[in-house]
Parts: sequence; C-alpha cells; structure tokens
Amino acid sequence: MTGMVNMNENDNNKSESTDNLHNYEVAIIGGGLAGLRAAYEASVLGRDVVVISKVHSLRSHSVAAQGGINAALGNAPEGHDDKWESHAFDTVKGSDYLADQDAVDILTREAPQAVIDLEHMGTVFSRTDEGKIAQRPFGGAGFPRTCYAEDRTGHNLLHTLYEQVVAQGVTFLEEFFVTSLVVDRDRCIGCVAINIADGTFHGISAKAVLLATGGYGRIFARSTNAIINNGDGAALAYKEGLPLEDMEFIQFHPTTLYGTSILISEGARGEGGLLFNNKGERFMKEYAPKAMELAPRDIVARGIQSEVDAGRGFENEFVHLDLTHLGEDKIKERLPGIRQIAMDFVDIDPIEKPIPIQPGQHYSMGGISCSNEGRTSLSGLYAAGEAACISCHGANRLGGNSLLEAIVFGKMVGKTMAEDVDSVSDPAQEPVVQKVVTERDRINDFLDREGGEHVYRIRDELRRSMFDHFGVFRNEEAMQEGLDNYQMLKERARTVSINNKGMLFNHALIHALELEFMIMIAEPIAMGALQRRESRGSHFRPDYPKRNDDEFLRHTMAYLRNGETELEYAPVTLGRFEVKERVY
Ligand code: FUM
Repeated sequence: MTGMVNMNENDNNKSESTDNLHNYEVAIIGGGLAGLRAAYEASVLGRDVVVISKVHSLRSHSVAAQGGINAALGNAPEGHDDKWESHAFDTVKGSDYLADQDAVDILTREAPQAVIDLEHMGTVFSRTDEGKIAQRPFGGAGFPRTCYAEDRTGHNLLHTLYEQVVAQGVTFLEEFFVTSLVVDRDRCIGCVAINIADGTFHGISAKAVLLATGGYGRIFARSTNAIINNGDGAALAYKEGLPLEDMEFIQFHPTTLYGTSILISEGARGEGGLLFNNKGERFMKEYAPKAMELAPRDIVARGIQSEVDAGRGFENEFVHLDLTHLGEDKIKERLPGIRQIAMDFVDIDPIEKPIPIQPGQHYSMGGISCSNEGRTSLSGLYAAGEAACISCHGANRLGGNSLLEAIVFGKMVGKTMAEDVDSVSDPAQEPVVQKVVTERDRINDFLDREGGEHVYRIRDELRRSMFDHFGVFRNEEAMQEGLDNYQMLKERARTVSINNKGMLFNHALIHALELEFMIMIAEPIAMGALQRRESRGSHFRPDYPKRNDDEFLRHTMAYLRNGETELEYAPVTLGRFEVKERVY
C-alpha cells in the first residue's frame, strides 16, 4: 500500500530524499492502548490499517500504567454484590457530575466483557485463590473492582494487544512524527509525517483517521507522564478548527515519588497503604473521614497539598506513604514495581520505610470533543483514549478507568471506522501531495532560522508556569499571572530556532514541533480554568470553593479562531443519577 512519489522538484533545502505516499483504509495516529485496540478491531473487521506512532508502540505511555483496569466482575470476596450500575454511579459521582452519563453507561456496562476479552487475548492478570481475575480497591469505588497484573497492568495489556495487532498483519510506521492532518473539502483524508530516523516526509492518505495520541500532561512540570505526552493529537485537531472540550480539568495524582514525579500507584493505597503527615497523623480523616486514603484522587491530592502548605509536610514538600505494615510478602507479591522504583530512585525499601510522596500531574480529562462512537465534528476524523474527551471522566477521573476507556472506546471507534469507510470513496491524492510539500517547506524554513529563542528554555518556563499557576489550587490572581506569562511565552515561541540543521534523528526539531503544539493547547487550559468560576473535581478555586451547577454544570468548548482561543459552553448529558453534593 505504499507508493513512491517524487515531490522534490525545485528542492534545494534540507530534505532531499524521495518522499513517500502511502494509502490505507484506516490510519491510526498513536500506538498506545486506545490506538492498538482500534487497530485490532478495524483489522479483524477486514480493513487495511496502519498505525503511525512517534515512538515504538511498546514505548507508548500506556506501558507505564500501574494499578489496574476497572470492571464490575465481583470476584473479590467483599465485591460479590458489585454491578455495572454501581461502577457507573461511582464514576459519575467521582466526575463531580460533569461526565456525560450516556458515555459512562457504555464504559461501565462494557467493562466486564472488555476485561475478559483481554484475558482471552493473553493478559496475565493476577489471580484470586480460586483462580479468578483478582480485584483490588481503588479510590472512590464502592467495591474492590480494579483488575490488575501486579503493579504493571499497562505493561501487560500493551504487550498483549501489540502481539495481537502484529498477528493481524497491521502495518506500523514507528518513529514517525505527524506534523499535520490533511483536510480536503471538509473531510480529513490523511496526514503528513516525518520519519524521525531519516528525515523523509510522508503523506498518508486514508478514508478514516484516528487520533489516539494520549494526553497533554507534559505541558506541566512535575508530571508522571512520559516525555512524549505533549498533546500532539489535540493540537492537530485544534489547528483544523475542531473544538477541545474541558481542557482545564487536569488530574494531579496524589502519590508521585518526591523529587522524581514517578507514579507510585494508587494500588499501594488499595492494598492498605496509609498517608501520614509530619505529626504522625493520618490526615485524610480531615478531608474524607469515611473513604480516608481511598477517596478520589482530587480529594486526596488536595489533602496532601493542604498538609504541606500548612507546614505539616516533611521538608515543606512531601508526606509519607507507609506500606511497612503490609509486610514483605504482600509488597513483593502485589507491588513489586513500586518497591523497585523506590529502591532505585530514592534508595528506600518500602518494606522497611515509608515512601516520600507529593501530588503531580497525571492525567488529562479534557481533549478532542467526540461522540460516544469516536466521531469528531470533521468527517473522516475520529478520536479515542486520553487524547479524546467523550466525556466519561468529567471533572475528575477515577483510578482504573483510564485503561478501561482506552479499551472500550478504542474497540468502539475501531468498529465505527471499519463501518464508516464503506461509504467513503478513495481520497484524492493531490491534496495529500500538496500538504507534504507545504509542510516540508514550512519545516525547512524553520530550520533556516538562526539566533532565536531556545526551545528548551521556553518549554521549561511554560511547564513551570502552568504547574505553578494552574496546579492543585487555583485562584484568579495566580491564574491571570499564569495567562500573562503564557502570552509572553507564546510571543517568544514564535522566534525559536535550533542549532541542529540536519534531518537524521533530529530530536531538537521534533521537540520544537512539539513545543508549537504545547503552546497551542496551553491556552485553552488556562482560559478554561480562569473562566470557570467554581470548584468542581480537579479544578479547585479557593476564591470560589463551591460547585456552581447553575452556571457551570456544562462543558467548556475551546475553538481556535484567527490564532486565538475562544470559549463556548455545551450541556452535560445527565441520566440515571441525580446531581448531588459529593461527600466521601
Ligand atoms: O495509580 C495508578 O496506578 C494509576 C492508575 C490510573 O491512572 O488509572
């Protein structure tokens, strides 16, 4: 399905090789769990599929997911009464009622079958004594419903799915960085990508294009996310005029390893880990007297940050997560990964001593607005996984629902695309070729630029400023300062240049292109947060500490118009669960 096309007439610049034109029925941008689940489904349904990923699929951020995937299987002794409706209720309440309840119904109703499918594909889940898939308690959940593979669940799932997708004969274009979508007569017909290894430009045309590129966590300092998570997919869609939804809702995971921001799984608290301040108090009794350490993440993160801010942390920075009482056997059996991380990175063995932890950015609730089937407002373009906002997490995602979303909605969008392409004729090739030329010229012009601002300086300042001004607690003054900083960085970013002018493995170029994306989508995050004058889920404003359903029980929709962000609002889909105060 690959054709060689010479697009080098008049070429006197950096990229001189013959460029490539590829044609598939379905092109999936992103090789993590959502992308692979979609690829598997579309391929099983007979479609010719390509997965385009800026890293090898097995290095996608899904591989780092630790604690597990939720499904109301009722396997744990205390969980026999669990049902998908209970899972749905916990998810809606956890979302602070901003989730669309029809999407939550799908997520939770499909969950048991999704997990069983993964087991049949070969995932090595941990087991109960009876041999069933083991389930542990997680924050905000009424029953122990998080299925896990030790504390390396994402690793297991990604490897399993990758094997299945490879077995299907799906093509992979790995270490390909997508610089632009191709839109022709109001339809997405493909994308343009650089092969990072050799710097060649590629045009990939398709009848259906999926953005499954993950979240935008790395716009923040102190993130658990892989360095690849810069919101590429959201920016690609935003550039084409598509709305981004609820971008201000950023999840701060309560327990990241102090000084490293590496995730210390919620599974550690699920297995019985306790949080202590410098007075030796289990301080969560002040913030969630019933749920304690297993309150939803937004509440635990605020509890920890409040303790540190009040001087009850250690070194004014962190609190302790204590696992010592769990005993060596349980820690080695259920939490071997985080034990290794603590030993390797801070020289602490959790069998003997508590782990120093602090909140860090972890998940992007917002993303590309799409329907439950994954369709965006642009024909031919779809979204899934953390890149998308369906919205099944609303203002705060429950732990264990992210892998689930990737699998359930990845499968759904794979099926949708496989069906939709039946009625689509072959895309015209000329617009794809044209876009390759435009992109190549744009990027070569950038490479010719000399003496501008340093990419990494701007990137680091952006991350620091976003973390400091749009963090666990946000108020008007700080956010306005953050937005002002952002405007200055946006100006300065227009002049960035890099020293490496080559095209072979030019990572500085890739980082510069990523910075362009990050700058583009930091604006809706900042503006969405500033204009949401209430506290809801992960968005907590000391100056507006209450939820305000009258004005803000609605989704923020950001549009890029003439280079500037404009906000509109859209209704939330309510359903079986009445909107109530959220108490744990
Ligand atoms: O804490 C964790 O293991 C993360 C799980 C998740 O984000 O769902």
